[in-house]
Amino acid sequence: MSTDTDNHPGIEARLLPLHVPASIAELRAERRAEADEEVHFTEALATLVIESLTEPGDLVLDPFAGFGTTLAVAQQLGRRSVGVELLPERVRSIRARAPGASVIEGDARGLHALVTEPIGLCLSSPPYMTANAHPRNPLTAYETLDGDYEAYLRELAAIAETVRGLLRPGGHLVLNVANIRHRGHTSTLAWDVARAVGRILPFVGETVICWDSMPQDFTGDYLLTFRPDA
Ligand SMILES: C[S@@+](CC[C@H](N)C(=O)[O-])C[C@H]1O[C@@H](n2cnc3c(N)ncnc32)[C@H](O)[C@@H]1O
Repeated sequence: MSTDTDNHPGIEARLLPLHVPASIAELRAERRAEADEEVHFTEALATLVIESLTEPGDLVLDPFAGFGTTLAVAQQLGRRSVGVELLPERVRSIRARAPGASVIEGDARGLHALVTEPIGLCLSSPPYMTANAHPRNPLTAYETLDGDYEAYLRELAAIAETVRGLLRPGGHLVLNVANIRHRGHTSTLAWDVARAVGRILPFVGETVICWDSMPQDFTGDYLLTFRPDA
């Protein structure tokens, strides 16, 4: 019997490397002119993940599309791409950068109503939160003061649950998340996201992003990989 997995031979056995190099100069050079903050990952990192875990023609999703790194790189590699982004000015920026991508202006917490087509990969860097001194809510693009670390983790896990329902057999979820030092306290954000999302989708492992100069306040930066059939 033929299955979807048979159409994507070998994908279920693919793993990302344990370490990848990353250049802070490259990250800064890729910053969009209109960007008011640093994006979290480079085109080289997105290329590595998309080439390793998808096939040409696959649909790649980024529910926190930002300035569109995932979507633009997916297009360049012959994949289709769909993204969700809350801020209208960033949606406009992505549409200019990746005209072939489908970009939805909306809230990833309503992903189930926004994206219904099967995806081969969800690659995203969610907006970050520290466990202390952080009243601003990352999931409203920091525009409200109702931030709560445990609620934030629960909402990310709920988005992962929707992603689980969208992934085709052999598909992956990859999240770029850092641990962060803020006002004398280190938030184990990466471990906490791995634990919260790992309850929904089995955690496959982490790739350590080896920056030549660590982005400000990060103590470690990771690609966390999850796969339903791991
Ligand atoms: C870390 S950035 C992603 C950067 C992206 N990887 C890039 O390279 O451009 C996170 C993005 O999520 C967006 N965002 C925050 N809350 C959201 C929500 N509830 N739904 C959709 N997007 C949201 C923010 O506006 C921000 O652009």
